[in-house]
Amino acid sequence: MENVTVIVLAAGGGTRMKSKTMKVLHPVAGRSMIGHVLRAVQAVEPERVVAVVGHQREQVGPHITELLPGALLAVQETQDGTGHAVRVAVEAAAAAGPVRGTVLVSAGDTPLLRGESLREFVEEHAASGRAVSVLTGRVANPFGYGRIVRDADGGVAAIVEEKDATDEQRRIDEINSGILAFDADFLLGALPRLTNDNANGEYYLTDTVKIARQDGLSVGAHMVDDVSQTEGANDRAQLAELHRQLNARTVTAWMKAGVTVMDPATTWIDDDVVLERDVTILPNTQLLGATVVREDAVVGPDTTLKDCEVGEGARVVRTHAELAVVGDGATVGPFSYLRPGTQVGATGKVGAFVETKNAVLGEGAKVPHLSYVGDATIGEGTNIGAGTIFANYDGVNKHHTVVGKHARTGSNNTFVAPVTIGDGAATGGGTVVRQDVPPGALVVPGATQRVIEDWVLERREGTAQADAARSARSESTD
Ligand code: UD1
Ligand code: CA
Repeated sequence: MENVTVIVLAAGGGTRMKSKTMKVLHPVAGRSMIGHVLRAVQAVEPERVVAVVGHQREQVGPHITELLPGALLAVQETQDGTGHAVRVAVEAAAAAGPVRGTVLVSAGDTPLLRGESLREFVEEHAASGRAVSVLTGRVANPFGYGRIVRDADGGVAAIVEEKDATDEQRRIDEINSGILAFDADFLLGALPRLTNDNANGEYYLTDTVKIARQDGLSVGAHMVDDVSQTEGANDRAQLAELHRQLNARTVTAWMKAGVTVMDPATTWIDDDVVLERDVTILPNTQLLGATVVREDAVVGPDTTLKDCEVGEGARVVRTHAELAVVGDGATVGPFSYLRPGTQVGATGKVGAFVETKNAVLGEGAKVPHLSYVGDATIGEGTNIGAGTIFANYDGVNKHHTVVGKHARTGSNNTFVAPVTIGDGAATGGGTVVRQDVPPGALVVPGATQRVIEDWVLERREGTAQADAARSARSESTD
């Protein structure tokens, strides 16, 4: 496609949201409404995207620039109608370079909009040589929409707004989606000819249809089956409904791609989530942000994962996790809380009532019960006893704890960071570890910490724990 300028209208107030957040910034499935639109319009390979901002533009402008750094922002100081908004946009675009070919206009609050629909629409428009094309559809309740008035030949004669329509016109169920495509030359000439002598006292973009007809130019409609994809959200109830519809679309697409979803109605999957084949999602599960779940993993029930990666064949049950990585074949939950920076090693385990943060667990490392693991590195094959606290905070600063590989720490321990527990070391139940523990040592609680050198080598001969201790000892004596 050549020379398409896209104009996204986002200057309106959106007062019915009753929110300090601008309407188009409200998220649907992990992306702002305008973010959905800016992504969909990429399907027409725009030469330029112009966003019209007005209300709360100090919020909206930076958001648009962050999502699409090349977008032009056109400021509409007063919201005098869609025709006025497009005029402001065209002026901003013209200042940056010639506006030619096709101009596509869309609202900024339509999260269900599909890129393919826009592409087909623009392709048909460009091939038809029309001055104006309108994306239309039939709806059960056309109240509030501009109605498509057809002439005797079925051509589009006019778009009449609800407030300006006759009773007969109000019965028309074909509506203007708000998405229009224009021949750029026609649009540049028509915009200054718009007037505001209508029920709203606004400059209507839709009046360009009448102007084209007066000039003897052709106007056409492109009817889509599911015009609901162009619906906007004006209040929170509509926002929830659009989210539900988008989610149903997403969940269905993943099921068709080979994912088992036991209960689609209680499964929420954000737009950027990636699921591999033979993943199983159990009820009441939210997969948010940039979460990735690899083949054969099972997630849920009652689980929320935000920006997480779940490895192949892993199992995550009744868990809340954010910015965490769960290794292949690992198990997490039930009732686990993985905070940012958690990495559970392959085949490892984080069990019931365990909270982790900035904690890297090696392959096969386990924290099975009732523990807090903050700012820690735990080596492969190590088992942390029930009820262990990694005391990472001294009231001022956070400190790191290292537990080596194949260590066995007892129940009800406290590791007072910064502290290192060596490879293959052991700790007795109830130990408060304040000083480093050498590899292979056993530490038991006492008035002063008692270190029993080589305890593991003598008492645990033939275990991975003893082997790890021995090789660490020989390394240190080399
Ligand atoms: C508009 C159409 C109507 C169509 C409907 C589809 C016109 C005159 N009417 O009506 O035919 O059926 O959309 O939803 O075009 N905006 C601005 N600046 C303005 C006015 C609006 O940026 O001065 C933006 C709004 O933020 C919104 C979009 O344009 O994103 C549509 O405006 P809105 O007031 O909602 O138009 P409708 O009355 O719904
Ligand atoms: Ca509207």
